[in-house]
Amino acid sequence: MSGDVRQYKKQSDALWMNHVTCGTAAKKLRAIPADSIDCVVTSPPYFQQRDYGEKSQIGNEKTPLEYVDSIVKIFAEVQRVLKPSGTCWLNLGDKYRRGNLMGMPWRVALELMDHQWLLRNEIVWHKPNAMPSSAKSRLTVDHETIFFLVKSADYFYDADAIREPHVTFSDQSKMKGGRSHFGKRGGTPEKGKNSGSSNMHDARWDQAFHPQGRNKRTVWSIPLSKFRDAHFAVFPPALVETCIKAGCPKDGVVLDPFCGSGTTLLVAKSLNRNYAGIDCSKEYCKMSRRRLKEADQTTQL
Ligand SMILES: C[S@@+](CC[C@H](N)C(=O)[O-])C[C@H]1O[C@@H](n2cnc3c(N)ncnc32)[C@H](O)[C@@H]1O
Repeated sequence: MSGDVRQYKKQSDALWMNHVTCGTAAKKLRAIPADSIDCVVTSPPYFQQRDYGEKSQIGNEKTPLEYVDSIVKIFAEVQRVLKPSGTCWLNLGDKYRRGNLMGMPWRVALELMDHQWLLRNEIVWHKPNAMPSSAKSRLTVDHETIFFLVKSADYFYDADAIREPHVTFSDQSKMKGGRSHFGKRGGTPEKGKNSGSSNMHDARWDQAFHPQGRNKRTVWSIPLSKFRDAHFAVFPPALVETCIKAGCPKDGVVLDPFCGSGTTLLVAKSLNRNYAGIDCSKEYCKMSRRRLKEADQTTQL
């Protein structure tokens, strides 16, 4: 057991740890001590998208400004509970109003940057099985946005955990001879005929030759999840997995303050991370707890 986990086990008041708390994010986050979360993966309700049947829910604000304000207030608490080394992955969808694309994800991101968040990436989550739309005078939208945000410049990031296959020297590539060419000369481009070449700087080596694959790109093509018990789109586990593997150390703590059906928590658990979930809907808290319990039972078989 790592030092971190031992320390959490000693805190008898850490009721939020490996637990689903029912209530509003703004209020329940206050029970979590400052600097105690390693990674946040979350998808708050989008602007005027869905009624979750809870008075305290966010998303039903009348204006974009009020919506942005609600999210930014909750994210001030998220920032407080996040360790200085913490990472935050925020999924938001956009909205058309009176024929106008509102740019909601970016309205939120810009405001978060004005509130001391550092924005590291805009990730495009491409949904190959997105619902068809009736739009005839514009394109069908088949993506959402994920913002990768951090609290300080010195944050945890494991690039190797999420590398993807090389394209340049893959079997499909016309340049596939390149890798073996270098191989004959000692395994790496630096050792071969290019040794000392200023062109072979780190980024190019990483791009073409890193043995574990190239650095992950910002367009993630991941189908929507098939979990049908929830009345809204739930996170695909593969999406959450990528965020946690890159953004949370082993034995760390993953928080989802809008945990819904509990996908983030389940994935955190399966990757040997601790979790903390919050949701204002009793029904969804129950669903998360049930799924976590079922996962426990399956692991014990
Ligand atoms: C888009 S869903 C999250 C889905 C989740 N990612 C999953 O995989 O199941 C948003 C969730 O936020 C919850 N919610 C809405 N307003 C909230 C608030 N103020 N505090 C906490 N939870 C809230 C809703 O009940 C809903 O379950």
